[in-house]
Amino acid sequence: MTAQIIDGKAIAEQIRREVGEGVAELLAAGKPKPGLATVLVGERPDSAQYVRTKQKTCAELGMESFGYHLEATATQEEVESLVRQLNADPAVNGILVQLPLPSHLDEESVLRQISLEKDVDGFHPINIGRLAQKGRDPLFVPCTPMGCIVILKKMGVKLEGANAVVLGRSNIVGMPVALLLVRENATVTICHSRSQDLPGIVRRADVLIAAVGRARMVKGDWVKPGAVVIDVGINQIEDPTHPKGRRMVGDVDFDQVKEVAGAITPVPGGVGPMTIALLMQNTLRAAKIAQGLV
Ligand code: GUN
Repeated sequence: MTAQIIDGKAIAEQIRREVGEGVAELLAAGKPKPGLATVLVGERPDSAQYVRTKQKTCAELGMESFGYHLEATATQEEVESLVRQLNADPAVNGILVQLPLPSHLDEESVLRQISLEKDVDGFHPINIGRLAQKGRDPLFVPCTPMGCIVILKKMGVKLEGANAVVLGRSNIVGMPVALLLVRENATVTICHSRSQDLPGIVRRADVLIAAVGRARMVKGDWVKPGAVVIDVGINQIEDPTHPKGRRMVGDVDFDQVKEVAGAITPVPGGVGPMTIALLMQNTLRAAKIAQGLV
């Protein structure tokens, strides 16, 4: 059996279209453009690229973006005072501090400064804390984890009672996606580089989320036949046959796993486009919250 290849780009495009229509409605009602502020600290090329893509998407959907770039040597106070300034700016509806921050900075303390109503990344400790608690709802949910859940729902995957395995426990993807799966009534196992018998754990998954950051780690014989595999990995590997000499691969060995799984997201073109689409959706909602419309 060959797996169904999940077209994350198409799902993301539909969300982007809906967000664009929502923005147009706001503007037609005489409201200001929704605004997203991006805060980039340092010179990581991958982070700079992500931020550029987020700003470009804002423009495509009729939103405003405000780019702030601080030097890699910026102090805690400089970063936090910028966040406080953005909290007070009514043109800014969402604040995105690109992670990871340089290692001398206290990330949690920076994220804690963001107004809950502008925390479109959902990384404020209170929003994450609410995500982890029964009967409490965060104002915003992290975009990549939510992208995984939206894909699964669009595919009609039954999460209730399913065995879901999350490979990876990062603050940005692994842990929040596990919390979201629990909220969907899945039976969730989180495993990671120190887990014993990773292949054996992964093989029990009806739904596998691979977010461990190791190129093509998940092999065909790790996967239960028919499982749904969501590959969040973004790894660059050398490939002399490619024009740039390198190319992007996921955490899953796609060529092997597509022969076993029921459905699989490719890299690129799977989860990646969903992250930005959901960031735009969160920013539109933040603008509506600011206008008292939701
Ligand atoms: N770094 C990698 N993914 C993300 C994300 O979704 N948001 C932010 N702020 N930083 C990231």
